[in-house]
Amino acid sequence: MYDEYAFLTGTAQTSLLHFDEYADQLTNRLSLGSRDLVVDIGSNDGTLLQAFKSHGARVLGIEPAQNVAKHAIAAGIETLVEYFGPGTVNAIGLGNAKVVTANNVVSHVADLSGFLDSVARVLNPSGIFAFEVPWVVDVLRHHSFDIVYHEHLSYFGFKPLSRLLQKHKLDLIDLQYFPNIHGGTLRGLAAHSKSYPTREASLNRIFSDEESQADLLSLQKFATFVLEYRTKLVSMLRNLKRDGKRIVGYGAPAKATILLNFCSIDRSILDYVTDTTPLKQGKFIPGVRVPVVPPVRMHESPPDYALLLAWNFKDEIIQKEQGFLRSGGKFILPFPEPTIVGPDQSAEKNY
Ligand code: TMP
Repeated sequence: MYDEYAFLTGTAQTSLLHFDEYADQLTNRLSLGSRDLVVDIGSNDGTLLQAFKSHGARVLGIEPAQNVAKHAIAAGIETLVEYFGPGTVNAIGLGNAKVVTANNVVSHVADLSGFLDSVARVLNPSGIFAFEVPWVVDVLRHHSFDIVYHEHLSYFGFKPLSRLLQKHKLDLIDLQYFPNIHGGTLRGLAAHSKSYPTREASLNRIFSDEESQADLLSLQKFATFVLEYRTKLVSMLRNLKRDGKRIVGYGAPAKATILLNFCSIDRSILDYVTDTTPLKQGKFIPGVRVPVVPPVRMHESPPDYALLLAWNFKDEIIQKEQGFLRSGGKFILPFPEPTIVGPDQSAEKNY
């Protein structure tokens, strides 16, 4: 499924900054030097490894999508164009990786046990496995049902995940929360059992939030909310259309397909969807068949409203689109509930 991938990490400024800080932090925490190897699983265009490399570490990317791996290779990041597994373990060598990273990858893995087994094999006895996943508690509290799609096989709570790690003799030693990355991301750090002290306080805070906010009742509330949500968003958009407003979609991430299809939002509502990714331009959102066009189309003839489908980059996009907002354009933020925001970013409640 990932032989070709329509997403480049380095296209969003938010991700560049986030991964720069990520590399800074781990380089300092482990005092990485020029002999230490950092392996990134699902390395995409090499954005994270580029940051580690600039700090002096040796780097190796593992990326099955040849179309994105070639960007990394062209930028000088050595990359194995294959899926991570026993074959890659042999190529890396047992215990050779001081750091193994996997960001927005673990949720995509079908054989979690096999995956963690391979991670444990390549990880140096004093190494750290760092991985980022969207946190189930945020999916529920932000109502972001649109991230539930074919690529995502797990929606992680860290208490169960820590038990799975233990089965592979890995301890979860620390957790860091990034509320603004993909709508709420947790970075877990794991290491071979007993090689590092565990930051119990950071783990316990997260575990207790999971127990109170990702329980059965929360799931039931979420299911009810999603149906009410659809009515709310569709009536907001239909009212705007009735008033003669022009509406477009902003961003064509995979999750846009879910939101638009679930709410049956097609070309009768959205003129088009803009996206900066050349690979997506000229194509259509599956199912609802809304065309994907370059952003210049929106700037040449600004619509009245833009439904922010790439909501995980809200701050970056609103900052970038000040011209659109100043000329009278407005964004519709889909989550946690549909909200219209204008130039001063105050919410309008009228629709
Ligand atoms: P993602 O939510 O899967 O990370 O994808 C975000 C999509 O949004 C990606 O296709 C690029 C697009 N995008 C824009 O079109 N304009 C922007 O300013 C940003 C930050 C992203």
